Amino acid sequence: MENILKLENIGFRYGDKPVLRQINYSFEPGKIYGIVGKSGSGKTTLLSVMSGLAEPSEGRILCRGEDLTARDKYIYRSRDIGVIFQNFNLLTKLTAAENVELSLELSLRSAGQKADPKELYSRAYGCLREVGLGQEEADRRVLKLSGGQQQRVAIARALSYNPECILADEPTGNLDEHTQKEIMEIFRRLADSGKCVIIVTHSSYVAGSADRCIELQQINHLQ
Ligand SMILES: Nc1ncnc2c1ncn2[C@@H]1O[C@H](COP(=O)(O)OP(=O)(O)OP(=O)(O)O)[C@@H](O)[C@H]1O
Ligand SMILES: [Mg+2]
Repeated sequence: MENILKLENIGFRYGDKPVLRQINYSFEPGKIYGIVGKSGSGKTTLLSVMSGLAEPSEGRILCRGEDLTARDKYIYRSRDIGVIFQNFNLLTKLTAAENVELSLELSLRSAGQKADPKELYSRAYGCLREVGLGQEEADRRVLKLSGGQQQRVAIARALSYNPECILADEPTGNLDEHTQKEIMEIFRRLADSGKCVIIVTHSSYVAGSADRCIELQQINHLQ
């Protein structure tokens, strides 16, 4: 199976403090990957590097065989990958649907396409429906949605422009077991539809539901 993302000898330092060292991994479509490891082992850092928000100090990332350093990171983030942040990063004063529409509009613009308001509207509602949110919730301000519902909006937003790869940081943190299960069912459906889903997690349930798990080891700074 062809790789979507490939990490080659990735290293990362904050100043002179090494956080990631020699990470080699390939990610295929249609699978769920769990990234696990102790707090401080560099999971969020790795996700930032993979989403083009931070440059690796060593090594390279290939997306469909193309070196990320040669790519416009903005376009990469608005088309190839969908990122779900731990704190959701939603615009809380806007409605759920407006959050999804905005992300879709930015993605279309980055591809030089015009965004027809009617199409934006119907696609946003479609994405929200896919994650189990109806019209009433879609039209509610994000601030007035529950944590689990906001999590769904963050997933819908990442899905809005149909990226091949979804990167999520602790997407089930602070959720009850039942909601966690429902969120994992959404990720499983996405993987079954051919997406590559990469999830950073501390949850043994989420890690156990993944097809593959990558464990990051804390680097001993005195080495
Ligand atoms: N901007 C920064 N500047 C300096 N050090 C940082 C910065 N961000 C993170 N670190 C450090 O890098 C290490 C890895 O952090 P990271 O957030 O990637 O860990 P993590 O595995 O995601 O942890 P957690 O499970 O607690 O979320 C930690 O020691 C952290 O303190
Ligand atoms: Mg983290």
